Amino acid sequence: MSKKTIHPAKVIAGGVMPPGDKSISHRYAMLAGIAEGTTEMANFALAADCHSTLGCMKSLGAEVKVEKDVVRVTGHGLRGLKSSWRSLDAGNSGTTIRLLSGILAGQNFTTKIAGDDSLNKRPMKRILTPLREMGAQIKAREDNFAPLEIHGGKLRGIHYEMPMASAQVKSAVLLAGLFADGETSLTEPARTRDHTEIALEEFGAPIERHARTIHIRAKGEIKLTGRKVEVPGDLSSAVFFIAAASLFPESSLHIQAVGLNPTRTAILDVLSRMGASIQILSLRSAQGEIIGDIAVKGAQLKGGVIEGAEIPLVIDELPMLAALGPFTEEGIEIRNAAELRVKESDRIRALAENLRRMGAMVEERPDGLKVAGRNAGKTHGAEIEPHGDHRIAMAFAVAALGAEGATTIRDAECAGVSYPTFYEDLARVSE
Ligand code: S3P
Repeated sequence: MSKKTIHPAKVIAGGVMPPGDKSISHRYAMLAGIAEGTTEMANFALAADCHSTLGCMKSLGAEVKVEKDVVRVTGHGLRGLKSSWRSLDAGNSGTTIRLLSGILAGQNFTTKIAGDDSLNKRPMKRILTPLREMGAQIKAREDNFAPLEIHGGKLRGIHYEMPMASAQVKSAVLLAGLFADGETSLTEPARTRDHTEIALEEFGAPIERHARTIHIRAKGEIKLTGRKVEVPGDLSSAVFFIAAASLFPESSLHIQAVGLNPTRTAILDVLSRMGASIQILSLRSAQGEIIGDIAVKGAQLKGGVIEGAEIPLVIDELPMLAALGPFTEEGIEIRNAAELRVKESDRIRALAENLRRMGAMVEERPDGLKVAGRNAGKTHGAEIEPHGDHRIAMAFAVAALGAEGATTIRDAECAGVSYPTFYEDLARVSE
């Protein structure tokens, strides 16, 4: 387990191009595996998580060729997957196991799928409920956790009123809907990222959207076709650099080719509201997704409260926001975010623990935390324990730039789950 030492910085300057979007890469890889022909994906995420998805698709009979960040997957149509003799390995990736379960529910064979210790502790009941309603038989440890044993088969379309705002649950149902008889529809309680809907449409699936309700109609056999796609840069990775640049008044950073899908950009609104200087420089579209450059200048962050319907839209960026707390005027308070406790780690606990190690004042609550601002005292370097969670490691590597003295990140390579070159990229723009 490697340790990484981060020294304080004075300014963040230059340019950075974050790796391909993790959420979108997963979806393209899965759809490519059930499409006819070859899909060529440029700027595919280098993230370990997306390689877990590629590994699963390969075990299910899709051909996968990786040449740096260009990945080609050849599928054999919606009914073209083959049973895997060994259990599928989703690694650390919740998106892999939850979305793929939707596809596996529609196969006429049985599949076992599990992940690492962290993933095997994360709740799966949320996908088991709708997939069982559609007709799948699924066994799970304690009826909630991986390993899952999915006995796929004939599925029927349902209407599902989602009890929670989760893009992973929504996507699992929509993907199962590709294999169901009749229409599958669902209503989300609040908007979540819509990459699955956009990608399904792009690959040729009959999908319709009306406000928060989405329909997929399998009139006859659905045919998805392989294509050339470009994966936008990952805004959730870019956020670590936006935060870093915002710490120092003299910063000037250019972030290139980032995904700016409106269901992902709430974090830019939150940071702007808190005083960050963020400018969007150019916009273009690629297969229904929006890509743009971002210019960030140094700022004096005010801080504030994040709660309610905004939470699911910034769920992955909350670790970075919380770790910015001690560098803001008023501090940062996060409410209604109990979901953070069942991510790659218990992120509320991990944030409180590591913020305290750096000398910050933190109140931990069941559904969030309150981090005191600058007036409560300066943060100092510390030894950070990320609990194997990539976003905790990266959030504290950024906080370390603004602290007094050096910080050590234990098990630093866990950042590779979403961003393998994170520390090199951060060092390149830090002075
Ligand atoms: C994701 C959805 C979110 C997010 C996760 C990626 C996706 O999870 O936290 O990192 O790609 O659909 P939930 O659906 O559990 O909110």
